[in-house]
Amino acid sequence: MRTLKKTLIAALALAGSTAISVAAEVEVLHWWTSGGEAAALDVLKKDLESKGVTWKDMPVAGGGGEAAMTALRARVTGGNAPTSVQALGFDITDWAKQGVVGDLNETAAAEGWDAVVPAALQAFSKHDGKWISAPVNVHSTNWVWINKAALDAAGGKAPETWDELVAVLDAMKANGITPLAHGGQAWQDATVFDGVVLSLGADFYKAAFIDLDPAALGGEKMVEAFTRLAKLRSYVDDNFSGRDWNLASAMVIEGKGGMQMMGDWAKGEFLKAGKVPGTDFVCIRFPGTQGAVTFNADQFMMFKVGDDAKAAQLQMASSIMAPSFQSAFNVVKGSVPARTDVSNEAFDDCGKKGMADLAEASASGNLFGSMAHGHAAPAAVKNAVYDVVTAAFNGELDPAAAAAELAKVVAAAKQ
Ligand code: GAL
Repeated sequence: MRTLKKTLIAALALAGSTAISVAAEVEVLHWWTSGGEAAALDVLKKDLESKGVTWKDMPVAGGGGEAAMTALRARVTGGNAPTSVQALGFDITDWAKQGVVGDLNETAAAEGWDAVVPAALQAFSKHDGKWISAPVNVHSTNWVWINKAALDAAGGKAPETWDELVAVLDAMKANGITPLAHGGQAWQDATVFDGVVLSLGADFYKAAFIDLDPAALGGEKMVEAFTRLAKLRSYVDDNFSGRDWNLASAMVIEGKGGMQMMGDWAKGEFLKAGKVPGTDFVCIRFPGTQGAVTFNADQFMMFKVGDDAKAAQLQMASSIMAPSFQSAFNVVKGSVPARTDVSNEAFDDCGKKGMADLAEASASGNLFGSMAHGHAAPAAVKNAVYDVVTAAFNGELDPAAAAAELAKVVAAAKQ
């Protein structure tokens, strides 16, 4: 029996995405519970089911995945890790360092992942030369999603600069809608702040959030960033506190809100509601960030499992990495493929723009990990940033105090 399984695993690795014929199950922990997210996840579930792999669902709701990571910690501590877990950036590295993750190298080598996954993603997919997780997408956070009718009523021109953005928000306010649909949760505040910081310069974003340079974190430009954040706060409605991100998307979909500053998972909600880019909604880069991208890639990190579960785990990884799956999944999710060799044919205009922007930003050295979504710095730093950004958004710190506090807490957290 053992030999049979070993043969099966080896055959699977060699055969790439060839279906397996044994009954097998993967237990998957994830936070994709909104309408658009669930629709995308269904593409993966169905793909696996067609290959004889049963999906055991372990959803832990909560955008950005903080609650999911807490649930994961409990499972691993209890000696009962799931087969696979949705995870982001530095969280993957943190788990790898604990020695609890699996090894996908045979499948990766057989399928040539090294040659098609961008280095920025491999930095997290691999640890000590070993593939440990399968990247399913690339999202980016510096997007704005605008209701088309609301934009038309506000002059019709999509804003390209900060001043134009403020003018459109003012016009929407005068038109009696909530200009900025937002959910007051730390990760959402931080998502908006990714765009704000990037709008003050790609070099500034890099210095502050990638290099964690104290001078950038606590300097004049950061004071300006917090001033911009406070300005954005003035366009949010009174009921924003605690609102889930997809409910903020729904406000824009319904025209009660003018725009949402959110990663391109928001597009999944618009599509799920039957909305069409260019007709019902407009996607633009956060004004002032054109040419640069702050990215986050969802990966399915694989945990160490026994021989009985290994074949299904490898099948899952192989399925995720198949070019046709990367296209089908990301068309629904709002993200773009994690492979560089997937055609943009099936994607709508926002998806095509996302793919072109990613390639351009990568080539020009303007592709950076998202601070809000765990790709700029490890969780300790990210959480410290969350605290300051949320306090500033809620008016508990003025811009100068927020910048000073940011430099202080990041210095402490990065040690
Ligand atoms: C992000 C994740 C996205 C999206 C979002 C909201 O961290 O990368 O796939 O689901 O959270 O839940």
